[in-house]
Amino acid sequence: MSSDATIKVLLLGAGALGSIFAWRLQEGDKAKVTVVCRSNYSIVKSRGFSIVSEAYGKHTYHPNKVVRSVEDAVSDGTVYDFIIVCTKALPNLSDDSEMIVPAVNGNKTTIILIQNGIGIEKAFCVRFPESPIVSAVAYIDVSQPSDGVIEHGSNAMLLMGLCASENANYDTAAVNKSLQSVSGIWNDNGATCTIVENIQRFRWLKLVWNASFNTVSVVSGGNDTRQMLADPYCKGLIRNLMTEVYKIGEAATGEPLPVLLGADSPDAFIASTEANKTPVCPSMLMDFRARRPMEHEVILKRPLDVAKRLGIHAPYMEAVYALVVMVEKGYLSSRL
Ligand SMILES: *[C@@H]1O[C@H](CO)[C@@H](O)[C@H](O)[C@H]1NC(C)=O
Ligand SMILES: *[C@@H]1O[C@H](CO)[C@@H](O)[C@H](O)[C@H]1NC(C)=O
Ligand SMILES: *[C@@H]1O[C@H](CO)[C@@H](O)[C@H](O)[C@H]1NC(C)=O
Ligand SMILES: *[C@@H]1O[C@H](CO)[C@@H](O)[C@H](O)[C@H]1NC(C)=O
Ligand SMILES: *[C@@H]1O[C@H](CO)[C@@H](O)[C@H](O)[C@H]1NC(C)=O
Ligand SMILES: *[C@@H]1O[C@H](CO)[C@@H](O)[C@H](O)[C@H]1NC(C)=O
Repeated sequence: MSSDATIKVLLLGAGALGSIFAWRLQEGDKAKVTVVCRSNYSIVKSRGFSIVSEAYGKHTYHPNKVVRSVEDAVSDGTVYDFIIVCTKALPNLSDDSEMIVPAVNGNKTTIILIQNGIGIEKAFCVRFPESPIVSAVAYIDVSQPSDGVIEHGSNAMLLMGLCASENANYDTAAVNKSLQSVSGIWNDNGATCTIVENIQRFRWLKLVWNASFNTVSVVSGGNDTRQMLADPYCKGLIRNLMTEVYKIGEAATGEPLPVLLGADSPDAFIASTEANKTPVCPSMLMDFRARRPMEHEVILKRPLDVAKRLGIHAPYMEAVYALVVMVEKGYLSSRL
């Protein structure tokens, strides 16, 4: 960590989720947060983010510094203790590890990846063997109903764990300590942050929902959770997808998947989704509607690669993967 006590943070991907975690880190001035905004630098710089949060109130959040690029973030010689990557994971279209190169300073920089899916760490571990890589899973109820306006519910939860720490090329105890200080700031500011031993188990657990409801919402032509669960065959498909994720995840991590918020099985996930007062439009469905690229590589393809390596047959995921990719090809090619 840098010699003065303020933690220096660079955050990429300041969408709905990124802006809440940035704000909760900056609050109280224990961390200085620089946010990279490519497309809308001037708006964020002049107006900040308008946030309406049930948990933290109404606020216009101005990051300590807003920059157009990672190059600009380091042009004054700032050395960042943490780089937080909150972008959508689209490895077929962009390699986010390449983008942060100018700001990574060997073992002085810890990289925190708050992204969905499986295998997102690999490109970073390969490119930055000296740097601690932290894999994080977020549970947060946040959306951006219009540009720059962010609506947040009552929770922001983050689970994080160091990746591949067995063959770490850095002082693990020192990294642990600085990770605990970041986690402490989030906790002090109302975002529940927990450091866990085996983060991969939690990645797979989140995938139980993400690889099923998200993907079926798209291949069904655009159904929300209530519509999907109202149809017995569609519900059966979701259950079968969830069962496959449990099977692959448990084989890959060598442990049962953890239980979070009472969800310990496909049926429990389905029941808690059924109990939602309002139907959920999964994020992949929103991408589909907006004709944006979808996260199928990290939500389906990489889990399927793991399944193949372990000799596990996952026919439902294979079918849904093939269909999601074809649907996306259809609209991405016509967009050009
Ligand atoms: C994305 O990249 C992976 C790995 O190279 C490849 O297997 C997959 O087919 C690609 N996906 C698409 C939609 O092109
Ligand atoms: C910044 O750009 C992103 C992506 O285009 C958009 O979703 C977001 O609303 C913009 N933020 C502000 C504060 O305008
Ligand atoms: C970084 O590497 C240097 C040289 O190998 C070592 O002395 C130092 O303890 C390391 N720092 C951390 C935080 O790992
Ligand atoms: C780092 O923290 C984890 C979890 O808090 C703990 O299990 C591990 O032993 C720590 N490692 C070191 C070297 O302190
Ligand atoms: C993943 O699932 C969570 C619920 O567990 C949902 O809130 C989120 O929108 C999903 N995200 C993606 C990218 O699938
Ligand atoms: C979703 O499901 C319902 C059945 O509940 C169906 O009538 C509807 O057309 C489906 N598709 C869309 C895009 O809503």
